[in-house]
Amino acid sequence: MRVVTTRAELAAVRREHDSAAELALVPTMGALHRGHRELVRRADPRRSTVYVSIFVNPLQFGPAEDFGRYPRNLDDDLAICADEGVDTVFAPATEEMYGAGTPGVTVAAGPLGERLEGTTRPGHFDGVLTVVAKLFHLVLPDVAYFGQKDAQQLAMVKAMVRDLSFPVEVVGVPTVRDDDGLALSSRNAYLDPAQRRQATSISRALNAGRAAGPHGAQAVHEAARRVLDAAPEVRVDYLALVDADTFGDVDAMTSRGLLLVAAWVGGTRLIDNVTLDLAAAGGATRHVLGGDVTAR
Ligand code: PAJ
Repeated sequence: MRVVTTRAELAAVRREHDSAAELALVPTMGALHRGHRELVRRADPRRSTVYVSIFVNPLQFGPAEDFGRYPRNLDDDLAICADEGVDTVFAPATEEMYGAGTPGVTVAAGPLGERLEGTTRPGHFDGVLTVVAKLFHLVLPDVAYFGQKDAQQLAMVKAMVRDLSFPVEVVGVPTVRDDDGLALSSRNAYLDPAQRRQATSISRALNAGRAAGPHGAQAVHEAARRVLDAAPEVRVDYLALVDADTFGDVDAMTSRGLLLVAAWVGGTRLIDNVTLDLAAAGGATRHVLGGDVTAR
């Protein structure tokens, strides 16, 4: 496995790549766990040349956020990448990506970037999209893998690729969870054992919401809210149900919903989501001449 830290080294390695072989990129901020491993496995090192980037991107952290204390353990990360058959790791220093200051030209995430995560984290998605755009330009991948755990991020990257015509295919990968349901996250390392237990109410709330899907949007909200209310130490930032395809409001026509939670457990902010089937518009059953027929 090659490890490169400068853009020049990366460009040299990239030039050697046989253009007939698929090149896949998995962008990360390191502190790798089984969720990141799953992205690499989906990228499939036996079939594709897989590059992993490891870069804690200052541009996507707010001034009061955890950039300074974000977990960094490059040696462990490199061992995981080698174990998974990664071809090349790109692990640049901040100056290598941004020079001495912050970039004057950045990618604007637009209206979706201001909702949900963007309400609490203004500018976050501009920072994410700016670094992802840079990584795409430096690595020139055919395909890039992102986790559904960060569903809004995945949607924003897909929108950037579409709206700015990046020649990259973006693939979403299902969320990897611990046995108790908690979605794996580098930030779980901040939780003490009691908080770790409390944090499971997030995925339990999402499951309760999903189970209520056939009863409609209001039932989904109520079921999830009941679980969260029973865990007062979990401070909910938002609980939202959106159309899974458009991220817009759910309406009578929406059948596939996305239920999202952001919540604080102590000083740690966690996010998670599930997709769910909502009662389809008109229901499965129509009344015709007094008798019930199943709609086709
Ligand atoms: P990071 O939080 O390190 O996540 C890297 C990728 O791993 C993201 O696509 C994320 O959605 C995915 N991921 C994290 N936890 C996961 C889980 N439990 N199951 C499946 N996938 C999971 O997300 C970022 O870094 C950054 O914003 C980045 C895209 C690298 C830009 O800086």
